[in-house]
Amino acid sequence: MKKVLVLGSGAREVAITRSVSQSSIKNTIFCISKDINPQISNLCEDYHVCDVNDVASVVSYCKKKEIDLVIVGPENPLAGGAVNALEQAGISCVGPKKEVAMIETSKSFARMIIDLCCPEKNPQRKEFVSIEGVKSFMEALEGKYVIKFDGLMGGKGVRVSGEHLKNISEGLNYANEIIEDGGKFLIEEKLVGEEFSLMSFVDGKTCKHMPAIQDHKRAFEGDKGPNTGGMGTYSFENHSLPFLTEENILEAQKTNELVAKQLLKHTGLPYVGVLYGGFMLTKDGIKVIEYNARFGDPEAMNVLSILKSDFLSICISLVEGKLEEEEVLFDELATVCKYVVPLGYPDNPTKGFEVFCDQNDSSLFLASVMFKNKKLIACGSRTAAVVGKNRDIQKAEAFAEQGVSNISGKLFHRKDIGTKDLIGLRVKRMKELLS
Ligand code: AMP
Ligand code: GLY
Repeated sequence: MKKVLVLGSGAREVAITRSVSQSSIKNTIFCISKDINPQISNLCEDYHVCDVNDVASVVSYCKKKEIDLVIVGPENPLAGGAVNALEQAGISCVGPKKEVAMIETSKSFARMIIDLCCPEKNPQRKEFVSIEGVKSFMEALEGKYVIKFDGLMGGKGVRVSGEHLKNISEGLNYANEIIEDGGKFLIEEKLVGEEFSLMSFVDGKTCKHMPAIQDHKRAFEGDKGPNTGGMGTYSFENHSLPFLTEENILEAQKTNELVAKQLLKHTGLPYVGVLYGGFMLTKDGIKVIEYNARFGDPEAMNVLSILKSDFLSICISLVEGKLEEEEVLFDELATVCKYVVPLGYPDNPTKGFEVFCDQNDSSLFLASVMFKNKKLIACGSRTAAVVGKNRDIQKAEAFAEQGVSNISGKLFHRKDIGTKDLIGLRVKRMKELLS
């Protein structure tokens, strides 16, 4: 009997918990998070309510319950050294130690690692701690730049010229804001093309890759509005995307392999867990936008909804360094995942309203919610995700929409994600760029 603890309680962690619960390996599941997610709690032996970033409490609870394996959902506990502390206490973890999780937690570290193993995947860039040289670098990039806070901001610390920042002076203002907060930042060349993510299971030596997925970071339809944690995702039944060639996929997979290897070489520590490569296909080939040290959210819902192999068995192979022997197979199905989020999200989200839905629906993944007086209440971040799957992406999209229509509350979602029109537009844009 394996005692498995899931750290975190969003939609991604619902997907993780469900996948563990469906394993043929006998297990009992535990969860730690600050709010009780009813879909996770239904599958759990015990639910410990505490801050997932409180490493001492996490370790002490895991020791008390004699947990065998911890699966870390979000990035903050990785940054805080939860894996280091748990492993020191003899508890295996799916998730990297903080020194290797820096591939996500420090954007400058990630760029340095990429420079060492595949420099052609990096955009032009410079790091700054003061305003000195900022203007001249922006000008050298002909005003096509991106400013990135060098730390964790949940996907919201990045501002792009021509989109969030209208001119160099708005860019300078944002740079000054970061400096006033005592922060470090990067200015990068603005890459143009189509973004996609490709995640890999990594045991330190071997990588087994997952289907390519496209996320939609912008809050509103037509890719307008502020960046969010991700409003929805889709993947095709062939595990690729219609604007990518087989070579593009192989190149992204190879990049993850090189990065995992370089991390081991640079830190002396094996990368264990899910390595998330965020890429952009540009006219100059594939470039890295970012790396994450965990499952993407919403990407986890896409891939785990079609994982054919036994997830817990994969997790055990990850921590035992035996991934090579493990089969990692996915159903040949397209998936469309859509998040419903509070009105006003992400800048001014409505909070505290009741959400009505069928919690037993297996295509529904509750996220930022809690139970209060027997009511399901939205907490302000992304509320719930719905996944549709089918051989045909259009049908998968329709299933996702149907799922969304069964949820009510002060919510909105992006109807355009996974539609023929939006995907068609992206393919067309990519063709134009490459021609
Ligand atoms: P990140 O948190 O690094 O993933 O950045 C959030 C979003 O900002 C990405 O999904 C991209 O849409 C955009 N972005 C980040 N870096 C760049 C870049 N160098 N060029 C163009 N867009 C970028
Ligand atoms: N979907 C983007 C992320 O998980 O960071």
